Amino acid sequence: MIYAAIPRTTPSFRLVAASVLMAVLSFSSLHAQQGNAARGERNFRACAACHSLERDRNMTGPSLAELWGRKAGTLPSFERFSDALKSSGLTWDDRTLDQWLTDPTHLVPGNEMTFEGIKEAPARADLLAFLKEATKPGAAASQSAQQGQRGGMGGMMGGMMGGGADPNLKKPEPDIQVKTISYCRDTYRVTTADGKTRAFWERNLRFRTDTSKDGPEKDAPALLGAGMMGDRAAVIFSAPEEIMKFVERRC
Ligand code: HEC
Repeated sequence: MIYAAIPRTTPSFRLVAASVLMAVLSFSSLHAQQGNAARGERNFRACAACHSLERDRNMTGPSLAELWGRKAGTLPSFERFSDALKSSGLTWDDRTLDQWLTDPTHLVPGNEMTFEGIKEAPARADLLAFLKEATKPGAAASQSAQQGQRGGMGGMMGGMMGGGADPNLKKPEPDIQVKTISYCRDTYRVTTADGKTRAFWERNLRFRTDTSKDGPEKDAPALLGAGMMGDRAAVIFSAPEEIMKFVERRC
């Protein structure tokens, strides 16, 4: 485009213009290599269903806070590292993270992160530029990147299950506040504080727990995901012992 404007001018001007253009191009390719954190923040959505940037907030995967310089598989608060990752001997830095995100299985065979990798180098560079800032000690993780994370209902599941903002399990709205659960033949019936009773085929209702600070209060489970699709949902309890206490066999 810019060349088209140049031909009718003098050769020396052309030379100057060309070298300016070269400088612009090499600057922008350098920039691409270093990664663009704003674009990277959008790429982080691919990770956000499983990873938080908040310290010790672990979900399917470990918190990524303070990742740079950490030895792989060593975050004390995360209970589910694979032996493969723990014994990988890796320390996370620009290079090892780029390899991990390219193809996790190739770098650490037998690891348990179900993620196929990001093949495009610029997309990885953008993501790493974002992560490097956002995982620094004390970095306030941005709202948009963290959105929809709680309870693993974010990402695709959030979309599938009605998505939107995370419900507050500490002070649940009446329509998700579970009062009773009865079980009859192959059906669970869940009655919520708004007086509604919903019936679920037994294989469509899951019982989960969340013992973290985001979880429900004791003996006050919440019904999640009964929105849009309706046939599947989960009841989140504050502790496993509550489950049997709540479910009453009654026809
Ligand atoms: C489906 C869930 C899932 C997705 C999506 C996912 N991860 Fe993971 N991630 C995990 C799990 C689980 C582990 C632990 C793997 C193991 O122990 O083998 C992990 C481990 C990691 C680790 C190693 C952490 C440590 O302390 O050693 C990094 C770094 C990481 N993931 C980054 C990412 C990034 C960046 C993305 C997005 C591009 C991503 N992950 C997407 C589940 C996921």
